Amino acid sequence: MVHRAEYLPPTGTSIGSILQGGYNHQLSREWQNPRQLTKNMFIFPLFMSDIDDEETEMVHLPKMKRFGVNKIVKYVDGLVKKGLRAVILFGVIKDEDKDEVGTKADDPEGPVIKTIKLLRENFPDLFIMCDVCLCEYTSHGHCGVLLEDGSLNREQSTLRLGKVAVNYAKAGANCVAPSDMVDGRVKDIKLGLINENLAHKCLLMSYSAKFSGGLYGPFRDTVGSQPSHGDRRSYQLPTGGAGLARRALKRDIEEGTDAIIVKPSTFYLDVLKDAAEICKDYPICAYHVSGEYAMLHAAAEKGVVDLKAIAFESHYGLLRAGATLIISYFTPDFLDWLDQ
Ligand code: PBG
Ligand code: ZN
Repeated sequence: MVHRAEYLPPTGTSIGSILQGGYNHQLSREWQNPRQLTKNMFIFPLFMSDIDDEETEMVHLPKMKRFGVNKIVKYVDGLVKKGLRAVILFGVIKDEDKDEVGTKADDPEGPVIKTIKLLRENFPDLFIMCDVCLCEYTSHGHCGVLLEDGSLNREQSTLRLGKVAVNYAKAGANCVAPSDMVDGRVKDIKLGLINENLAHKCLLMSYSAKFSGGLYGPFRDTVGSQPSHGDRRSYQLPTGGAGLARRALKRDIEEGTDAIIVKPSTFYLDVLKDAAEICKDYPICAYHVSGEYAMLHAAAEKGVVDLKAIAFESHYGLLRAGATLIISYFTPDFLDWLDQ
């Protein structure tokens, strides 16, 4: 005979207090994730130089290289074979080719437009995104066109950015992603796409919540876009500005964006969570930026963390906060690490 008393929990234990049976196996631990990291959510940054044969390692971005058009197809081919679905292009040009308005940003013979065409031809299914900004192409290194006093000329900037985006879309880009943070550029880019009959073919993914701060250093070394005077604080958001970020997210939706980016990622998980709520009907992309990548590599090199484990932990953090897409320099690693 079994006694009821044997079925009472031991003193001090309630029936809901035992959780560990729910995750004591590797598989049941994986079942705890509302969503899994998958290859199709990764977007890989490619730095395209105007030196056609270039293939240079980058000092502060371990394992990343700057490529010329003659070297890129072979490299991307290897990644596509491992399951790469999307890239985002950045252009790098010589200082002497830069001017006040960033004329070279959409030069038909420039590295970005040449790369769009080349990748389109060689990888018809690859999703080709283009970062839209002027800082890689302006003599002053700022993200827009400037007034006499060195501050942003908003109107001229958004018109110029709209033109650049349209020219990327015309060349075959699947997506244009403005990272400049000039007020009103999403609207001008969308209008440009509509007027040129491109709006149905090109996704507009706005860097809506982009913060200024110390995490873009390795990127700026790579593309040579340090501003020659001042900084980007008048257009990129202040670190504490979660409220401003919410306003910018709403504004960009009003202006016709199709998806949004939060950047940087790890230090801004609250903003990512806000974005997932405010933009709940939109793809939410987290940009794990150059400084975040470089820091994890540096920590791994020092023996402070295990690189693969910390990459998974940080990227699962982004998913948990609400990201559905991730721009990451770890993309080639994840293509090796993930099964699908
Ligand atoms: C261009 C741009 C930047 C990044 C993406 N697009 C640099 C900046 O705004 O200074 C940063 C990406 C990274 O650090 O990985 N505006
Ligand atoms: Zn810029």
